[in-house]
Amino acid sequence: MSAHAWRRALVTGGAGFVGSHLCARLVADGTDVVCLDNLATGSRANVAELEQRRGFRFVRADATDPAALRDLPGRFDLVLHFACPASPADYLRLPLETLDVGSTGTRNALERARADGARLLLASTSEVYGDPLEHPQHEGYWGNVNPIGPRSVYDESKRFAEALLTAHRQVHGTDAAIVRIFNTYGPRMRTGDGRAVPAFVSQALDGAPLTVAGDGGQTRSLCYVDDTVDGVLALAASGADGPVNIGGAEEITMLELARRIIELTGSSSRIRFVERPADDPARRRPDTRLARELLGWQQRIGWSEGLERTIGWFTHAVAA
Ligand SMILES: NC(=O)c1ccc[n+]([C@@H]2O[C@H](COP(=O)([O-])OP(=O)(O)OC[C@H]3O[C@@H](n4cnc5c(N)ncnc54)[C@H](O)[C@@H]3O)[C@@H](O)[C@H]2O)c1
Repeated sequence: MSAHAWRRALVTGGAGFVGSHLCARLVADGTDVVCLDNLATGSRANVAELEQRRGFRFVRADATDPAALRDLPGRFDLVLHFACPASPADYLRLPLETLDVGSTGTRNALERARADGARLLLASTSEVYGDPLEHPQHEGYWGNVNPIGPRSVYDESKRFAEALLTAHRQVHGTDAAIVRIFNTYGPRMRTGDGRAVPAFVSQALDGAPLTVAGDGGQTRSLCYVDDTVDGVLALAASGADGPVNIGGAEEITMLELARRIIELTGSSSRIRFVERPADDPARRRPDTRLARELLGWQQRIGWSEGLERTIGWFTHAVAA
């Protein structure tokens, strides 16, 4: 996908899973990058190679601290606001921090983008659709979210962030857009973060039982991280407001996913059914027509190839 010539980008949450892939792509495209991260769920190891490159700088700071963003020297023409705990295990452990980064953190990112006249992209999520009553989910669907359920700290934080961005655009004319990312997977996910792909892959590689929640009939649509990065940067370059869904078209049940991972790893692991978390969505699949029509984006890497790459990375990471 063609690269837009950004001069200098600020990536909040850049030491996390998706953020580190975004930083790497931007640096490869010749953009100077400042990665601001408090390492709440990310790791400096994710950007260790980038730190050797000219034009990349890591700043350990909290996006909820107004001065941290305001006082960064220089001018940015792109702000990617990706800071936020994203796995259920993380946001349940950090509920108030998750709400803070969606509210105050988003406000700070918007203020910095406005001050610099930069384009801002907010990483929103399929979780704004909650446990959806419409399938697949298109951008016009308002969602089915429990505002006081255990997942609400994440879902409502992102819904608030979307509302804040919309108001900022209306009041200040800030050039800001919303990307709603569906389940993304790939190298640099943490084995212990509780999300299905890293959990199943690490269990399979260890010969441990794969823990499938409920009867495993719930579905997700997986998107390999390189495709997600393409979609995010295509929306950034487009000038469109969004929200735009970016996600995989292939819906897969969690049981099928576990079986495929056992097959691909050649593991002798079995499957163990465990209790399903409260408010766990039953079905998830994005309607990505808008991304195709507006951005010319579509998923290129199917789950079979994506899983092989991910398993390769985990095998290497575990052995290292
Ligand atoms: N991975 C997915 O499937 C997915 C799906 C939908 C949306 N998203 C969104 O994409 C973004 C990145 O998700 P991820 O999967 O890479 O998660 P991640 O946990 O790996 O990355 C989040 C990063 O944000 C940092 N962070 C958290 N709070 C911060 C704060 N207050 N100040 C500075 N840094 C902070 C963390 O340390 C971490 O490096 C999140 O906003 C998430 O909501 C991800």
